[in-house]
Amino acid sequence: MKKLSFLHFMLAILVMASFAMTSCTKEGPAGAAGKDGVDGTNGADGEDGIDGLDGSATCTQCHDNSQALEARVMQWEESFHATGDAFARNTAECATCHTSQGFRGNLDGTYDWTAEGAKITNPNPPNCYTCHSIHSTYTTDDWGLTVTGAIALRNTTETYDFGKGSNCVSCHQGRTVAPWPTVGGADITITNTRYGVHHGPQGNVFSGIGLFVVGTVSTSLHATMVTESCVTCHMASGYGAESGGHTMWMRNISGALNTAGCIECHTDNTALLAEVTALQTEVADLLAQLKTKLDASGATAPGSDNSVAGTYSPLVAGALLDYKALTEDKSLGVHNPTYVKQLLTNLINALP
Ligand code: HEC
Ligand code: HEC
Ligand code: HEC
Ligand code: HEC
Ligand code: HEC
Ligand code: HEC
Repeated sequence: MKKLSFLHFMLAILVMASFAMTSCTKEGPAGAAGKDGVDGTNGADGEDGIDGLDGSATCTQCHDNSQALEARVMQWEESFHATGDAFARNTAECATCHTSQGFRGNLDGTYDWTAEGAKITNPNPPNCYTCHSIHSTYTTDDWGLTVTGAIALRNTTETYDFGKGSNCVSCHQGRTVAPWPTVGGADITITNTRYGVHHGPQGNVFSGIGLFVVGTVSTSLHATMVTESCVTCHMASGYGAESGGHTMWMRNISGALNTAGCIECHTDNTALLAEVTALQTEVADLLAQLKTKLDASGATAPGSDNSVAGTYSPLVAGALLDYKALTEDKSLGVHNPTYVKQLLTNLINALP
């Protein structure tokens, strides 16, 4: 109440004051002219400032008319990264490999996939911004890859340097499997149809790290000699937007293998194509033999790669993990020829 009456009082003063002011606005006599202001030095203009940087000068290092950027865009548009629909796996850990924002957010700590309800809304599939630091310095430095150097492999305690391919293997590697079988260790109880290392274990197959090993196996020279790993073979100049480059496909639409990345070592192209066919045929056959034994063990059923719930020896469980990993690797031995052949042969011989 007190406050209100004070407000009224102030308002009244204000109204009276404005009356008083309007009554005083009559013009009085003109005052004396003011002194002239000081002229600028000799009347000259001020010194020119240093030219600012052209805000768009560095943009044209990439956005020019060479079509170099467009070529990559067109290739990427034909890649499975762009055309696949697995970006819809946009929750929790899945989003760290299946969405661009989840991948970058996991790297810089802004996406905590372990948080309750973690999810990327409006997910993008892997794109320019996933693998390159686009628009961070606005110079060609931004072609730098978002992941470089040795990376940790999830299902192991090891790290491995895949060269430029470390970027790829950040996603193209197995996920953690629990429980993991050990030779001579405890039996493994499988509770669902999805016991396995996940769909993209190419990094593990290439390096020979993170698979279940029985007997003696030796990693192929691809692991030591192909220093940029995935990038050397999959991103070699290809055929338009059909293979190689940013399509990352190994074959043209006609089915022809893109061997541009192989010729520095395999100089005889015809011989190489024959070797690839022979290797892939042999590995497909070994996988079929292993599957027959897994079906007999009950861990899988004929006609399906799903695991069958039950308790199995570590050997059977491990053979199942490798069967799935080497099937889902999809190169049928090419990633690590010697190793894959030996491992499959050892497993087939060891299983009853
Ligand atoms: C390292 C190379 C590079 C530089 C330098 C660069 N850009 Fe880009 N920019 C890209 C790429 C790659 C894309 C995505 C292309 C695509 O997906 O089609 C892009 C996309 C864009 C787009 C489309 C909208 C978007 O964000 O996707 C605009 C606008 C753009 N850039 C403006 C600029 C400007 C302005 C500069 C300079 C200040 C600049 N860029 C510098 C590589 C670059
Ligand atoms: C951000 C994670 C991520 C990165 C990084 C990544 N990939 Fe992929 N890649 C995927 C996913 C996810 C798919 C499957 C897409 C789908 O199903 O929608 C895929 C699919 C592919 C395919 C087609 C697979 C098929 O089943 O036919 C190839 C080939 C491939 N990637 C190669 C590469 C190479 C080479 C690199 C590195 C230069 C790379 N990827 C980097 C996540 C990634
Ligand atoms: C370590 C990275 C990584 C994580 C984590 C991950 N994925 Fe994947 N996933 C991939 C890659 C890479 C591929 C593509 C493999 C290929 O095509 O060769 C893939 C493929 C798939 C596919 C097959 C897609 C197709 O079109 O064939 C499905 C389904 C899938 N993932 C579901 C999931 C789910 C669900 C989760 C979470 C529970 C998950 N993924 C977590 C990397 C990952
Ligand atoms: C899956 C990862 C991945 C994606 C997605 C990707 N790139 Fe790349 N990009 C690479 C790798 C790896 C290299 C290095 C290739 C090499 O050294 O042969 C590269 C190289 C390049 C280069 C050459 C850079 C240089 O230093 O000269 C350009 C240009 C380029 N990418 C543009 C793009 C554009 C544009 C997009 C989106 C349409 C894109 N990239 C998407 C992985 C990727
Ligand atoms: C020595 C060359 C070479 C290297 C290194 C290599 N790949 Fe492959 N990759 C191949 C060949 C050949 C195929 C089988 C293509 C076919 O038969 O259709 C293949 C198949 C694949 C496929 C199945 C889709 C497709 O294109 O058929 C994926 C996904 C893949 N590789 C990812 C990778 C990743 C990730 C790496 C890095 C760890 C890698 N590759 C390293 C040669 C290579
Ligand atoms: C940096 C060198 C290098 C590159 C690049 C390379 N390879 Fe190889 N590759 C080798 C060597 C060395 C061997 C033999 C020794 C081994 O497997 O341990 C080999 C073995 C192979 C074998 C097994 C041959 C057999 O006798 O069964 C195949 C198949 C193969 N490579 C395919 C490819 C394909 C396809 C590409 C390209 C997409 C490729 N390689 C790229 C070095 C290379």
